[in-house]
Amino acid sequence: MIRDFKEINLAERNSFHVEQRARRLIEFETEEELMAIFRREQPDRWMVLSGGNNILFTQDYEGLILSPVSQRIEQLDESAESIRLRVGAGVEWDDLVAWAVERDLWGIENLSLIPGKAGAAPVQNIGAYGAEAKDVIRSVRFYDAEADCMRTLTREECVFGYRESIFKQALKGRTVITEIEIELSKKAAPRLGYGDVEREVERLGGATLRNIREAICSIRRSKLPDTAVLGNAGSFFKNPVVARVVAEELLAQYPEMPHYATADPEQVKLAAGWLIDRAGLKGYREGRVGVHERQALVLVNHGGATGGEVIALARKVQETVKQKFGIEIDTEVNIL
Ligand code: EPU
Repeated sequence: MIRDFKEINLAERNSFHVEQRARRLIEFETEEELMAIFRREQPDRWMVLSGGNNILFTQDYEGLILSPVSQRIEQLDESAESIRLRVGAGVEWDDLVAWAVERDLWGIENLSLIPGKAGAAPVQNIGAYGAEAKDVIRSVRFYDAEADCMRTLTREECVFGYRESIFKQALKGRTVITEIEIELSKKAAPRLGYGDVEREVERLGGATLRNIREAICSIRRSKLPDTAVLGNAGSFFKNPVVARVVAEELLAQYPEMPHYATADPEQVKLAAGWLIDRAGLKGYREGRVGVHERQALVLVNHGGATGGEVIALARKVQETVKQKFGIEIDTEVNIL
């Protein structure tokens, strides 16, 4: 079903809760509806907004916003080892994780409680606690506005990377994802290697699927602010990937600095949260915006802030980190 809104306030549709307005917003369910909207409206300017969890509006939007609301989770084929599912873009990601865990299906439990919808998961290849959406995604189906047709890309064709995919690169600005196909395992495959996960799972009584979900939820709740209470968009910055020599120089000065190997032995990933924290900015507040007091990667709206105020703080954080460590940190959040 299509729902059409004119002159709509976006405050409840973006997790930063900034007060911006859109000229028009249309919610759609099916790909037929989506194609009909494009044919009828022929929009010059349009964008997709699903959960609004990774976006910062700094101005009103004068174009057409498309918002997928399909709630379908459909089981495709099943083997002794795995099950394939087709998931509508509008399904809440964490509802999908809960659905899978209830049915003893492994693969996305480490991605519990990530805010946002299933259709957004492939765009930035959401990831946490040693797992990424790309580990389970088989294919992504979307409308390609340039080709004016529906297309499906396989996992390989999506060119997934750390918080990256083809949808942020070559296909940026021309796709509307309508569904994803994922494959989940019936066999236990716990991934406990990241941070406090193993300790928390042990505390709960061992590595069952339910305990892992519970552990991840409790770790996230302890560190990340609830968007319903405090406007934010999760990690505002990406963890920087730097040349090995750069990391080694910093490690000589800060031996305790967290660092992670990447697929390329010459590149090392650093923790932007640690860099911001060490630069003295954790919990820093400037008027209505601030750096979260328990996770320095997260910028928060203490109430009533504009997108511009958040950006000003973000620039200050970037400059301070650059001055102290010589490292540039990029934003993860889309700024509009
Ligand atoms: N750290 C600090 N101070 C801070 C924050 C972090 O010293 O304020 C240190 C931690 O002690 C740890 C290291 O930095 O040694 C890494 O921190 P953490 O494990 O909390 O993870 P992160 O690298 O800060 C990433 C993701 C999160 C995801 C966590 C867990 C990015 C940009 N962020 O954060 O994703 O939940 O790992 O896997 O990769 C998101 O994308 O919105 C998000 C929350």
